Amino acid sequence: MAYSLYCSIPKKPISSIVISSPHIMFNSVHKFVPPVTPSLFPSRYCTWSSVSSSVAETDEHYRQSPRLVAKEYADLNLADKFTEDVGNLRIRQHVNPLRRALMIPAEAPNWMEVFGDATLPLMVDIGSDSIVLWSCNFLDLRKEIAGSGRFLMWLAKRNSSSMNYLGLEIRPKLVTRAEYWVNELGLKNVHFISTNAMVSFQRLVSTYPGPLMLVSILCPDPHFKKKHHKRRVVQKPLVDSIVNNLAHGGQVFIQSDVLDVALDMRDYFDTVPDKLVHVDSVDPSLPCDGDGWVLNNPMGIRTEREIHAEFEGCKIYRRVYKKVQH
Ligand SMILES: C[S@@+](CC[C@H](N)C(=O)[O-])C[C@H]1O[C@@H](n2cnc3c(N)ncnc32)[C@H](O)[C@@H]1O
Repeated sequence: MAYSLYCSIPKKPISSIVISSPHIMFNSVHKFVPPVTPSLFPSRYCTWSSVSSSVAETDEHYRQSPRLVAKEYADLNLADKFTEDVGNLRIRQHVNPLRRALMIPAEAPNWMEVFGDATLPLMVDIGSDSIVLWSCNFLDLRKEIAGSGRFLMWLAKRNSSSMNYLGLEIRPKLVTRAEYWVNELGLKNVHFISTNAMVSFQRLVSTYPGPLMLVSILCPDPHFKKKHHKRRVVQKPLVDSIVNNLAHGGQVFIQSDVLDVALDMRDYFDTVPDKLVHVDSVDPSLPCDGDGWVLNNPMGIRTEREIHAEFEGCKIYRRVYKKVQH
């Protein structure tokens, strides 16, 4: 393992490579580099022993974060079922939601067939599944790291007779797996739809028979480049649709571990003050920091991305809005 890693970067000293998460580099380089012996490397690059130890540390680092997720979702007892029966998934890190093929709105399902009781209040989670960008094929850990909608399943299990949960996820493979897990759990109050929420949210929620009480957008794909900001899921039409379909007293929960993304979402939801108020003005039980970010996750369970991000030491920027009648 260490051979492959080392010889993949023979022309650059290690210090010259920006490694925000070293795991990404391991993942991307190991495939095309033939192993060679450490003695072939110039001495100014790192030594054989330092490479070995960094791999060992990374290996341990890799394993810790999924373990935390597994612990948080232990009630669901799902990990083995997925790896044995569904297998590993190969998934692209980023999807362009503006691709023509993804701009077709999903048909609304027959809600009576989808949920045990389709009149229950509904929570919709946009971008409901999770992949972890630092997955590592050569350590064969991807299957431990990737998760699919467990956040919603956990909530559905807790509130099986009082609330329905709908996950909208653009990656079909993740939805396939999430639905597999839902069946395994025998839950009748959670459903996942593979769709681009930007174009399907309105059609889906407007046909749901019960009240829309909560919409969450948690750690959405950041699309860092400015020219790609239009790919971010939170855009004005979606915000308008959420606000218009939300029942009075219904809530919107947004969060990100990327400040720029959180600020972007915040700007959109702050601009409808006649309909949405931020929770700190109506509910003192959700304390905020000095900048108005909600300090703690109000759901009783963290999302998978949130667990990984907090493990990496990131702050989570949260806002919770409530729909009011003026
Ligand atoms: C970074 S993950 C976060 C997942 C989860 N909310 C969490 O916090 O662990 C973002 C998810 O949103 C999905 N996604 C991105 N754009 C989307 C869109 N336009 N509609 C639906 N899902 C989308 C991605 O496929 C990915 O699974």
